[in-house]
Amino acid sequence: MSTQNEKPIGVFDSGIGGLTVVRALLERLPNENIVYFGDTARVPYGSKSPQVVREYTLGDTNVLLAKDVKMIVVACNTVSAVALDVVQKRANLPVTGVITPGAAAAARATKNRRIGVIGTAATVNSNAYANELQRLDPAVQTHSRACPLFVPLVEEGWLETKATELVATEYLFPLTLEKVDTLILGCTHYPLLKSVIAKVTKGMVTLIDSGEATAAEVERMLDEHGLRNTSPHRPNVQFLVSDAPEKFTAIGERFLGRKLGVVKRVATG
Ligand code: DGL
Repeated sequence: MSTQNEKPIGVFDSGIGGLTVVRALLERLPNENIVYFGDTARVPYGSKSPQVVREYTLGDTNVLLAKDVKMIVVACNTVSAVALDVVQKRANLPVTGVITPGAAAAARATKNRRIGVIGTAATVNSNAYANELQRLDPAVQTHSRACPLFVPLVEEGWLETKATELVATEYLFPLTLEKVDTLILGCTHYPLLKSVIAKVTKGMVTLIDSGEATAAEVERMLDEHGLRNTSPHRPNVQFLVSDAPEKFTAIGERFLGRKLGVVKRVATG
C-alpha cells in the first residue's frame, strides 16, 4: 500500500490538450506519480454549454477518485472556468484549476495593465479570467477573444503553417490594437502555438502559459499540505482515456514532449 505522499496527482482534461499541463508538471515535479484522464469520447468541451460541461466534469472527477489520487489538477481551461466548484464539492482533496494561477502570472507580468485572454468560446463567455484579473488588480483592462479554430489546427499538427499564421493574425490583430502587453494562452492547446503567436504579435507581447503557472501552484499546494513524494522509487505516469487510445497515443507525444507509454481506455461514470 502506498503512503498518502506516494499517491498520484490526478490530472484531467476534456481530451489530449491537458498533456501540456502534465508536461509542465513533469518538468517541475519529476518525483511525482501522475494519473491523467482525457475524456476523448466527449471532447471538445469548449463549444458546449456550461451545464453539459458540469455534468461531464462530475464523471471525470469520479474517474480520478477511483484511482485514489492525493490531489486533483483540472488541466482544462473550460472546466476550470465553468465547473471548478463541481470538482471541489465532489473531491475532499486539494484541487486547483488553471485560471487562478494563469491570471496571477499575467497580473505579475503586465507593465501597462492591458491583458489579452484567448481561449475556447466557453472559457471566454464565462469571463473567468477577466473576473479573476479584476479581483487581483481592479485597474487591469482585459480584452478577450475566443479562438475556436486553434484547437483543430493544433490537433492536425499545423503548428507553423501559413494557414495557421493567417488564422492567428485574424484572431489576434484586434488584441494588438488594444495594445495588450501580456496574453494569457487560456486553452490547453495554445502553448503549442507559441511561436506562431509570437510571430504575429511581433514579439511585443509576453505570453502566459497557464500550464506552467499551474505547475508552480501545484508545487506550492503539495508543500502546503505536506504531500510531496519523497519515495526513491521511479515515478509512474498513467494515461487513461474514454475513447479508443490510438489517436491519443499518435498525437499525444507532440503535447507531452516525450514518449507516452501505455494508454488505457476507461468508462466514465
Ligand atoms: N481542453 C480545452 C480547454 O483548455 C480545449 C479543448 C476543448 O474544447 O475541449 O479549454
